[in-house]
Amino acid sequence: MPKMRAVQVPRPGGPLEIVERDIPDPGPGYVRIKVQACGVCHSDTVTKDGLFPGIQYPRVPGHEVIGLIDAVGPSVPRWKPGQRVGVGWNGGFCGYCNNCRRGDFFACQTSTDVTGITRDGGYADYTLAPISALALVPDDLSSTDAAPLMCAGVTTFNCLRNSGARPGDLVAVIGIGGLGHLAVQFAAKMGCKTVAIARGKDEEPLARQLGAHYYIDNKTQDPSAELQKLGGAKLILATVTSSDAMKAVLGGLGVRGKLMVIGAVPSLEVNTLQMIFLNQSVSGWYSGTSIDSQDTLNFSVLSGVRSMNEAFPLDRVAEAYDHMLSGKARFRVVLNIGT
Ligand SMILES: NC(=O)c1ccc[n+]([C@@H]2O[C@H](COP(=O)([O-])OP(=O)(O)OC[C@H]3O[C@@H](n4cnc5c(N)ncnc54)[C@H](OP(=O)(O)O)[C@@H]3O)[C@@H](O)[C@H]2O)c1
Ligand SMILES: [Zn+2]
Repeated sequence: MPKMRAVQVPRPGGPLEIVERDIPDPGPGYVRIKVQACGVCHSDTVTKDGLFPGIQYPRVPGHEVIGLIDAVGPSVPRWKPGQRVGVGWNGGFCGYCNNCRRGDFFACQTSTDVTGITRDGGYADYTLAPISALALVPDDLSSTDAAPLMCAGVTTFNCLRNSGARPGDLVAVIGIGGLGHLAVQFAAKMGCKTVAIARGKDEEPLARQLGAHYYIDNKTQDPSAELQKLGGAKLILATVTSSDAMKAVLGGLGVRGKLMVIGAVPSLEVNTLQMIFLNQSVSGWYSGTSIDSQDTLNFSVLSGVRSMNEAFPLDRVAEAYDHMLSGKARFRVVLNIGT
């Protein structure tokens, strides 16, 4: 039986172990992908630390996968060996199954099929994916550049294009990491007056290089007051991993402004009177489907949006993951796995 390298988490909170496994065969409706690159996302903590109910271990993380189809299972129309594809998180509650209707979201059949969470992901030489999760990668993007677009990219692009913000509107992005540095680029390319908010002055030159028209240092400045000086934000896209930082920026929303929560924080306190009198809202945003990912890849080629990456080989995966967690990566950590 031919073997491959895979990085598995043996148990919730366990280490990232490099092991040898059999190369898996695709079942009906699945393809096998020879992985070229896989991004390391903050949401990989879900697998590493067992943050969702019902994850089976050992589990291979990784939901920013780019590679070549090298085998197709039965009942796979259209997709062929040799095509370069991307696979993202691709989960999401369908909203119409019986489980969703009674509020038992984590039992939803759609949500129970999530790359790198409930089935093995892209921290490996090969992975399997259902055809519903595949996006075709345009030739003009390298695999390393395309990988972060499969989660960091699609989540922020899709959030922005569904937010109601229009060209000329004041759009702020708080949290300039893997997701945030792409959000700044997308917002600027969509014609929004774009504000980057991060802690420390050091981030400013890079934020401006990404296309930010304004920069706010939330360590030394009051981000709400600064946004109000600019007229109040139509949209604040929050990719920070801190609810205090989100709370501190909420006062920067303008009339009918919206804060969209992307960063996974346990809770967020809001000033309801401010929300009522100024017709404001707070809502969450969850990734996207495979066609949303394909739209993200194509928009990035069209507009020149690119992830800034720090690449690591698969055998340095633990170092790569710790670097992502440290917040020091500029800006996305990507595992370069194969050719
Ligand atoms: N909703 C979805 O569908 C979805 C999809 C993907 C990811 N996520 C979530 O989105 C979040 C971001 O993911 P990521 O991969 O972009 O993580 P990341 O690369 O670690 O970026 C997080 C950024 O937040 C910044 N930050 C943390 N606390 C801050 C504060 N108090 N003030 C200003 N900036 C602060 C960090 O900056 P420092 O350098 O200053 O620490 C870092 O740059 C995570 O919670 C992840 O789980 C959600
Ligand atoms: Zn992710």
